[in-house]
This record gives sequence, C-alpha cells and structure tokens, in this order.
Amino acid sequence: MKGRIWNRATTADLNRYPPEAVFEAGERNHHVSNTSYPIAHSSVWKPYRVGRPLREQVVSRAFQGVDDLCLYVHIPFCEARCSYCEYTVVGKHEMSETAAYMQRLSGEMAMYRDLLDTRRRTLHGFDIGGGTPSFVEAELIAELLGNVRASFRFGPSCGISIETTPRIAALEGRKLEAYAQAGVERISMGVQVIEPDLLRVLNRSGNGVEHHNRAVENIRRAGFAKFNLDLMYGFAGQSLESWRATVEHAVSLGPEYITLYRMRYKLTRISEQAPRVRLEAVHEQAALAKRLLADAGYQANPGKNTYSRIEGDPGTSDYLTRRVVDGMPYLGLGLGAQTFTHTTIGYNDGAAGKTLTPYASSVEAGRLPIQDLYDLPLTHMMAKMAAVSFYFGEIDRASFHEKFGIALEEAFAEEVDFVLERGLMRYTDRALSLTAEGARRFNGVIALFFAPSVQAYLIDRDPDRADDMTRNLAHCVECRTAGRDETGIRGNDWIRFRLQC
Ligand SMILES: C[S@@+](CC[C@H](N)C(=O)[O-])C[C@H]1O[C@@H](n2cnc3c(N)ncnc32)[C@H](O)[C@@H]1O
Ligand code: SF4
Repeated sequence: MKGRIWNRATTADLNRYPPEAVFEAGERNHHVSNTSYPIAHSSVWKPYRVGRPLREQVVSRAFQGVDDLCLYVHIPFCEARCSYCEYTVVGKHEMSETAAYMQRLSGEMAMYRDLLDTRRRTLHGFDIGGGTPSFVEAELIAELLGNVRASFRFGPSCGISIETTPRIAALEGRKLEAYAQAGVERISMGVQVIEPDLLRVLNRSGNGVEHHNRAVENIRRAGFAKFNLDLMYGFAGQSLESWRATVEHAVSLGPEYITLYRMRYKLTRISEQAPRVRLEAVHEQAALAKRLLADAGYQANPGKNTYSRIEGDPGTSDYLTRRVVDGMPYLGLGLGAQTFTHTTIGYNDGAAGKTLTPYASSVEAGRLPIQDLYDLPLTHMMAKMAAVSFYFGEIDRASFHEKFGIALEEAFAEEVDFVLERGLMRYTDRALSLTAEGARRFNGVIALFFAPSVQAYLIDRDPDRADDMTRNLAHCVECRTAGRDETGIRGNDWIRFRLQC
C-alpha cells in the first residue's frame, strides 16, 4: 500500500446512492451488470484518461514498487469468428499476419523490458489467451515463451496457461506437445455448446462434437494434467434439455475443470438477441449445471464460474487466480490487451477497432501501443478489484485492505450491511462471500461495489431502450460508406466498432 497515490475523483464519483436503488438497477440491467467493469468506460472514465504525451511517465509511476505481477499475452487470430464472441479477434483479411504480429509482440515486450526493467520483477501467473493462441505455429509460441523467460523472473509457482479449440486440438496434436515441452502446464478448450443447430447459429459448426474425443486424447497424450473446458449458457433458443446435454457431455470428457460462461451480449454480433433471454431461464440453466456438476464431483463456491474436481485447486489459471484473490497487477501485451496496476488501467491499441494496423504502427514507431490509459481514483480501482473478485464469488478482505489501505467494511459500509442483512453475502475464512441466494442475485449484488458514476449509469439505464445492445447491424466505417444499415451507432463510435465486420 505504501506510496500509492490515486487520482482525484470527479463529483460524479463522490455521490452516494442508496443500496436498494443500486441493487434494483443491477438486477434490472442483468445483461450488463457483471464482471466486465466499468460497463460504460468511454463515458464514466473519460475524465481520468491520460493524454498521449504523459503515458510513459504514468505507466512507469504506476509500476513503481510492483515487484510481483502477472502477464497476459493476447493472440488475436482464429479460424473463424464466432458470432457470440466478445474478444479482440482480427478480421479475415489479417489472419495471415501471424508471424509479423508475433515479431511485434516481442518488440512491445522489449519496450517494457527497458522502461520497467522487467528482469527484476517476478511473474506469478502467465496466460496466453485470445483469440485462439494455438492458431499460430507452435514454434512462434515457443519463441514467445523463451522471450518471456528472458524478460522476467518466474516465481516458484508461476503456471503458464494457453487456450485452444476442439478442432485445432484434434487435428494439430503436435502443437500441444510443443506447448507442454515449452513449460505450459494448463490448457483450456472451448466446447461452448454441443447442439449442432445452435453451433451453426453461433458460426461455430467447425468445432462440433466430432472433434472432442480426439482433442482430449491429444491433450492427455501431450501430458496436460490441468485441463479446462469452457461451456456457455444464456443463448436465445437454448433449451434446458440442450444445456443438460452439453453439461453431461462435458463431464463425460473428464476434464479437471469446467468453466461456465453466461453469455454477455454487449458489443457482440448477436447483441439484438439479449432481450429474448429471460433472467429466470438463465437461473434455471445455472442451477441445473451446478447440480449436474456436483453429482459428477465438480465443486465451486456460490457465484464461482470455474468448477474443479481437484481438491484444493481452484481450477483457474494462476494468472486469473492471483488477479482475483490478491488483486495482483498484470501487464497485458498484444492487440487490445488490458494492463492493471494499483492505480491505472490501460487498453492496448486494437481494443476497440480490432484491427492490427494501429498496434503495428505504434510498435514500429517505438511507442507503447496503448490506445487508452486511465489514471483512476480509489473508488474505481476498488470497484474494479471487487468486480473481478466476483469471478470467484467473493472478495478477499485481507488483499483488499493491503491494496487500498482501507477495510472493505469501511469503504463499503452501507453496502456490506445491506448484503449481510439480506443474506446475500456472508463472512467466510478470509473473504466476504456470496451465499446461494446472493449468487442467484449476482447482478444486483455486484453493482453495490461499483463506483458512483457507474451506479448512476445503471440507475438511469432502461434495458429496453439501451442502444449499446443493438448495434449489431451497423458494423463499421466500410459498411457505412457502402450505405448499409446504421442501427444504433453514432459519431466517433463508428471508429470504435469497426470490429463487427
Ligand atoms: C478467448 S475465448 C476462447 C478461446 C478459444 N478460442 C475457443 O474458442 O475455445 C475464452 C472463452 O470466453 C467465452 N466467451 C466468448 N465470448 C463470450 C461472451 N460474449 N460472453 C461470455 N463468454 C464468452 C467462451 O466460453 C470462450 O471459450
Ligand atoms: S470464441 Fe474462440 S474461436 Fe470463437 S471467435 Fe472467440 S476467440 Fe475465436
């Protein structure tokens, strides 16, 4: 905590709103009141944006005293773009740029090596995410790992995790062996759903069940003993029976961990479907999965998305675990990657546009490829840590105190009383944890820990009229020029939402 200085809050972040009103607004806006904090960052974080000339200086200051951190490296390539996907993935015309991209990644890493003297800092978790990192050649991933090892110290328990798809894992087993040999110890594969009709609607037919058995064989043959499967629920038209079949199928593949993602519609190509998904249906799906997984020996605390069948192992990558439990700072490298310190949050070039050009130009010009950097007040940094903590359904009280120099109960006095009195959260060993009822009412509970400007946004937001969920038809500057539909996108947003094509 020593020496941390937070930016001053604007008046919008000094207001207080009654917990009842915030809780109700979070539940009403259940499609957006979730861990993707701060929901409306182009407006609520605008006052805290750091101008380009000051960025290096603010980044250096923010990393002062940060000896322990995690690393995230983003690989934005995929075989095809799934229509539900919210991540930074480049368009078809840039899919062949893998080697040049990996070269620029190493250029970005070299800039941080010089600026932050990263060789004297220790990593406690390292994720290679995407996109689909296994889309690129195995040699390029091995080179990346070598580069990271030469640029940072590795803590004794720093695990490395990577993501793949069923098709690649089934057809390119050699890549998996190369990862294991290079020291990657955890692998995560997206099954999402198994119903062929739904996979087709999601533009994911190429990753159907026909690949699953071979994929698992290859993963095990390569020696991975930490294997996670991702599943998704909350799709329009996804019946309870089809979801049951997906969960049962996932269990039959025998992974150590299964992570359940509730579909987040914001800024996806199928965002217009959100109003068709009722909260009660989502609750039924979550409850069914919990029962089926418990019967199969997979456990998770209320509100936690990753279920593990290994006692004492939370199932998440070390990168995510340290982020959630300790609020540990992390450096994000690559297109659109996010960086989090104790006082700042940054997004790399490409986070909005999802195209390689600005990122490539920055690295080639020797500039940190940062699109937006926010020097935040305490309220927002506390809210970000709390929001991320809800991946585990609880906020670690000691870590919160250590990070911010104030007890959770002091920072959120009324809110903590509110959740305790209503039985939504309770004290466990080190944490304030969701109860089963709190997990059901997650969208309301999480909003209680948001900063006032974000709470005000939710209180004012009418989910039936919100245009941030309905811009899927109007995709990019090219579409506008070609006279295609422009639903819901205004002004500069055109540039920000080029991604959708
Ligand atoms: C980086 S992605 C995918 C990794 C890999 N490319 C794949 O498709 O399996 C990590 C996970 O995020 C989840 N995900 C993607 N888009 C999402 C969205 N809009 N809402 C919630 N979860 C999402 C999916 O379960 C996905 O497997
Ligand atoms: S879900 Fe995976 S494969 Fe599909 S677009 Fe997103 S990152 Fe790519």
